[in-house]
Amino acid sequence: MQSKTSILCGDLLDFTGNPFHQGEEAVRFQPEGALVIEQGKIIARGPKAEILANYGAQAEVTEFTDKLIVPGFIDTHIHLPQTQMIASYGEQLLTWLTEYAFPEEMKFADRDHAVKVSEFFLNELLKNGTTTALVFGTVHPQSVDAFFQVAQAKGLRMIAGKVMMDRNCPEELQDTPEQGYLESKQLIEKWHGVDRLAYAVTPRFAPTSSPEQLQACKQLLEENPSVYMQTHTSENLDECEWVKSLFPDAEDYLAVYENAGLLRKKSVLAHGIHMSQREIDCCKEHDTAIAHCPTSNLFIGSGLFDLKRMQENHIEVAMGTDVGGGSSFSLLQTFNEAYKVQQLQGKKLTAFEGLYLTTLGGARALDLEGVIGQLEIGCEADCVVLDPKATPLLDFRLQEVSELHEKLFALMMLGDDRCIEQTYSLGKVVYQRDVK
Ligand code: GUN
Ligand code: ZN
Repeated sequence: MQSKTSILCGDLLDFTGNPFHQGEEAVRFQPEGALVIEQGKIIARGPKAEILANYGAQAEVTEFTDKLIVPGFIDTHIHLPQTQMIASYGEQLLTWLTEYAFPEEMKFADRDHAVKVSEFFLNELLKNGTTTALVFGTVHPQSVDAFFQVAQAKGLRMIAGKVMMDRNCPEELQDTPEQGYLESKQLIEKWHGVDRLAYAVTPRFAPTSSPEQLQACKQLLEENPSVYMQTHTSENLDECEWVKSLFPDAEDYLAVYENAGLLRKKSVLAHGIHMSQREIDCCKEHDTAIAHCPTSNLFIGSGLFDLKRMQENHIEVAMGTDVGGGSSFSLLQTFNEAYKVQQLQGKKLTAFEGLYLTTLGGARALDLEGVIGQLEIGCEADCVVLDPKATPLLDFRLQEVSELHEKLFALMMLGDDRCIEQTYSLGKVVYQRDVK
């Protein structure tokens, strides 16, 4: 049985602020540190020697020598039903949806299929160090009901929603404004705020929702102010043109959501690649966050996200894998691609900035600062043990490196699930890498 108090010892790394604005002042690195965990929460942290002297006698102590302990990763945009069609060849967004995504999503009419995929999906997240995700289900309410059931059994902090779409997609995947409203309402009543689960109202994107359905989304948000809202915006140029033709009276793409009353804190927009200054200002005004999904943006050829511009405008940005438009569940690999997306625009992205977006930045985008995303007293003990020498190449590369940023950068560029030694959720081991 797990003892009442547990202690994790290793090199602690997290953020106390935003390194895009505060540089290395925002980085908190404690070599040979320790976290004290009771009832799933961090109750103390500090130098290992001090912590062991104060708490060691009555605690179960786990030592990770030369390993980094970081907050659990936060994936702010991912699609449960696209797990089994990741890495589908040759299309850009609109044809990719019709060729691959929609047919795959039809399978989720079967609840058993949804349970099976949810098990795989959540295990894959944990294997990659991701402890919280903002997740799209399908139009079928049973897809989300199954997902929450599996996530609850694992004790995870997860946010998800049933897709709402009532046009411009196959008939089998359509709901109506009334049906979408009622099914979402029932899921909110059943799951929102239960254990560590939360609901997100989920209109897929402007082309697949009628103005009446967007009004139904607004009603759900007004009636349930603590739920999330997730959708897509300005990902692909053909999509942007399509939105213009479908909503000719809207000033721009984001105005469709703004006019429908869907932009607020706890609204997360995926992509935002082709946004005007007015749209960026609109995000700022409404406290709406953007999920940057670089593996997806490159894989389905959508474009280059201007992360630095968003930071200059003080937009809350976090990372998303966007599986299966995205090509990896790993937020380390997602950083790898984010770095290259900046390089292609003549800009830099530090490893500290990348890890921030994956931890505290994610928590801020989801309005969960103080709950997850930091190794802070009072936070839930969701954390990841990273093995910087997990592969022969990393080991070889790091032999000569002592400086923290250089080491972290190599780890994040070359790393993937092989670097995740253990994943903890509420202080319990939920993933353990096979012994090498
Ligand atoms: N836009 C609307 N639906 C989707 C989707 O499933 N994936 C991506 N990447 N973009 C979308
Ligand atoms: Zn997406």
